[in-house]
Amino acid sequence: MDPEQLCFIDLRDKPALEKLFSSTKFDAVIHFAGLKAVGESVQKPLLYYNNNIIGTVNLLEVMSAHGCKMLVFSSSATVYGWPEEVPCTEDFPLSAANPYGRTKLFIEEICRDVQKSDDEWKVILLRYFNPVGAHPSGHIGEDPRGVPNNLMPYVQQVAVGRRPHLTVYGNDYKTKDGTGVRDYIHVVDLADGHIAALKKLFDSKTACEVYNLGTGKGTTVLEMVAAFEKASGKQIPLVIAGRRPGDAETVYASTEKAERELNWKAKYGIDEMCPGSMELG
Ligand code: UFG
Repeated sequence: MDPEQLCFIDLRDKPALEKLFSSTKFDAVIHFAGLKAVGESVQKPLLYYNNNIIGTVNLLEVMSAHGCKMLVFSSSATVYGWPEEVPCTEDFPLSAANPYGRTKLFIEEICRDVQKSDDEWKVILLRYFNPVGAHPSGHIGEDPRGVPNNLMPYVQQVAVGRRPHLTVYGNDYKTKDGTGVRDYIHVVDLADGHIAALKKLFDSKTACEVYNLGTGKGTTVLEMVAAFEKASGKQIPLVIAGRRPGDAETVYASTEKAERELNWKAKYGIDEMCPGSMELG
């Protein structure tokens, strides 16, 4: 779309959505819009249900009314909860530990129901693992307002002196160095995963499918900090604290299904993610 035509609409503003869909014919929608702070969702569950769920229902209704029935939705690995084993495959049991996670879970179910009710719909649910990094141009990246919830933006803010130290939440997990293990994925790989998903929607008879977007590799908090220190040449002071409530020990993706069916595989590792995430630190 021509950047001149970019427009910003709150998905809860259904008349505005209607107007947009009446003025432009869309073939497909990639739906990323949602609040994503776990802690905030515990404090303000209704805000999360209102924004994430009602926004999505409005979007699906308006899409349907305008005959636009192809959707890629940003779900999350949070739906695996504390997985009993790793790597997580798409058929693992699902659960939610907080209202944010529940919105992802509910929206997945809503999408499945909508698709079942009308087979003109084609839906791909993408379960993101831990996105980090920035576009190499430095124009697009992460610079959250307030205190960052997530590891990498927090590390970046320590590196530039905005915060005195990183608090490491728990070093008594059963992992190689005792800290939590996650599957960090470069945002550029994540973006490519969406293109692959769109291609799949256009090229196949997909009904409603779900794919993990991760690298398949687990990295501890301390390994991530070391990679960032190497990339930035700065030391990150650490304070070891207790576990963060609701945190799982080890979460990483099985990437087989996405590789097989989307023909997509992450190209970058943490050594490419850390320099990228410095650009905006
Ligand atoms: N961590 C710290 N200190 C911090 C922040 C995080 O030690 O200041 C640790 C966490 O305990 C965890 C790891 O770093 O072991 C990653 O934590 P993040 O908050 O960056 O990511 P999470 O895995 O907890 O959650 C993220 C997203 C969720 C998403 C989930 C999917 O924030 O939206 O991944 O697994 F649902």
